[in-house]
Amino acid sequence: MAENILSGVRPTGNLHLGHYCGMIKQLVDLQNNGEYNEFLVMIADTQALTDNAKNVDKVKNNVVQVAIDFISAGLDPNKATIFIQSQVPQLFEMTGYFLNLVTVSRLKRNPTIKEEIKQRGFENSIPAGFLTYPVSQAADILTFDATIIPVGDDQNPLVEQTREIAQAFNTTYSPIFKLPKAVIRNQSVCARLPGTDGKLKMSKSAGNGIYLCDDESTVKQKIMNAYTDPDHIKVSDPGKIEGNVVFAYLDAFCKEEHFAKYLPEYKNLDELKAHYKRGGLGDVKVKLFLNNIIQEILTPIRKKRAELEENIDAVYEMLFNNAKKLRKMADKKITELHEAIGINYEKFKK
Ligand code: TRP
Repeated sequence: MAENILSGVRPTGNLHLGHYCGMIKQLVDLQNNGEYNEFLVMIADTQALTDNAKNVDKVKNNVVQVAIDFISAGLDPNKATIFIQSQVPQLFEMTGYFLNLVTVSRLKRNPTIKEEIKQRGFENSIPAGFLTYPVSQAADILTFDATIIPVGDDQNPLVEQTREIAQAFNTTYSPIFKLPKAVIRNQSVCARLPGTDGKLKMSKSAGNGIYLCDDESTVKQKIMNAYTDPDHIKVSDPGKIEGNVVFAYLDAFCKEEHFAKYLPEYKNLDELKAHYKRGGLGDVKVKLFLNNIIQEILTPIRKKRAELEENIDAVYEMLFNNAKKLRKMADKKITELHEAIGINYEKFKK
């Protein structure tokens, strides 16, 4: 039987090239070539609120933006059901029952949570909702009987914990949950696309991202200012490829056909890299080449975005309709859950 696929993202900012090359490409590929019954993509606003309780604007304003990013970058609303987490309140009910099957110490041992607590400085005061978001993520997955979870490797411990919760439920009550598996994105350069500053992964908080919604001149400016090799001062100097953001992006996005089109003096990336390492190739030339490639990718995405932005209400309508369908699906699972636990009181009446 065909399976249900579920992926999700927290709406705390617009999507950038790191998302495009990692998450979105994987989802679009699955959408077009995978076998599935339901293909669900969650905009996880309630999860985003677990560490943004006082930053509601940051979350709520990005919900429709993320939907627009997804669709303009290739998710097809006829195949992918994109929806807002808070519009399926049954997920909270599911979470409530699951919380009884998990210990606080197990949650504190979850490597993803551990890392995120450190990043956020929550060591001495962890919001309870934040500590337990893996349980709510288990509910996201299990409520919709999703078995295929395409995610980055940082999410693996969350899927692992979901499996434990499903197993605990199945053995404590009755086996109504299938065990999901994470489909980890390939660990190519896309998995950790560096920011334009060369320091960290591309991210909103680091302010080092190239966004799908950036206009042409913004993108060009970001590329022209991107971190390369600080010791490559004169064109004739030999240059370093490692840690050089421009080459990291070329590794991720450049194809051989781009050379014929934009830089015919070279056959492929190996030749370009060899010249750079030897010396005699300036950063500006490589950056302009990269700019051509990135603009080629982003131009159709921008065009689609402009169309969607003309009619934002239609995007909201789509999200609301999808949530309606998923509430029905969730209601069925909640009924199953009540029966499994034995609190289906209607059946008690003689
Ligand atoms: N934790 C994911 C993130 O940080 C978002 C998410 C929420 C998710 N629910 C999910 C991912 C269910 C996969 C499945 O981006």
